[in-house]
Amino acid sequence: MSAKDVIIALDFPTKEETLAFLDKFPAGKKPFVKIGMELFYAEGPDAVREIKARGHKIFLDLKLHDIPNTVKRAMAVLSRLDVDMVNLHAAGASEMMRGALEGLTRPDGTRPLLIAVTQLTSTDTAVLKNELLIETPMAETVLSYAKNAADSGLDGVVCSPLEAALVKERCGDGFLTVTPGIRFADSAAGDQKRIMTPEKAGSSGCDYIVVGRPITQAENPVAAYQRAVHDFLGC
Ligand code: C5P
Repeated sequence: MSAKDVIIALDFPTKEETLAFLDKFPAGKKPFVKIGMELFYAEGPDAVREIKARGHKIFLDLKLHDIPNTVKRAMAVLSRLDVDMVNLHAAGASEMMRGALEGLTRPDGTRPLLIAVTQLTSTDTAVLKNELLIETPMAETVLSYAKNAADSGLDGVVCSPLEAALVKERCGDGFLTVTPGIRFADSAAGDQKRIMTPEKAGSSGCDYIVVGRPITQAENPVAAYQRAVHDFLGC
């Protein structure tokens, strides 16, 4: 099921800026892109349809988390947008994840890939213990959530590239790892703390790398994208 690829995080506030960025890419190669809450809440499903119509694969990163019936029905709506990958919070638990899969499945049996967020990387050990009242160590919590997602039939998790090998070990080689926190050796880390180069991610079991600023803020975004693809896929 794995088809390794580079996903560009389209973290732009408006459709106008997003399309201007995508216009830089040559007609032949349409990158896989990630649309997050900012763009989706600002511009709505029309932006998704328009980007899809231009020939891009889309990861719609809305991280759903609600009661099973609500998530199931919302997923059915997202599935009709013809996106390729969506996600939810594994903290919503197994019944919600199974409901999501059901809602996502189209009448012809096809569906977008469904990926779980385990613990947000902004949650540290102190927050886990003192606010969420989870005494289990962070790494074990992440792996346990990943296993719940795998057992519920999901396709993979969003995780740090540093966790990808452990996730595969616990959940099986075919369980996908979608990994942000990617930086070229010579690019600024910004607010990302646990980072890896595309090349190292490629050899660490990551199936998809999500790259934002190293491409979107580059002087030549197309060259930066091509560099990420070359380094990650080794071709
Ligand atoms: O610009 P940068 O490469 O850091 O962008 C990474 C993208 O991945 C952003 O859209 C960010 O919200 C997302 N992300 C992340 N860490 C997570 C989950 C999502 O950086 N744990």
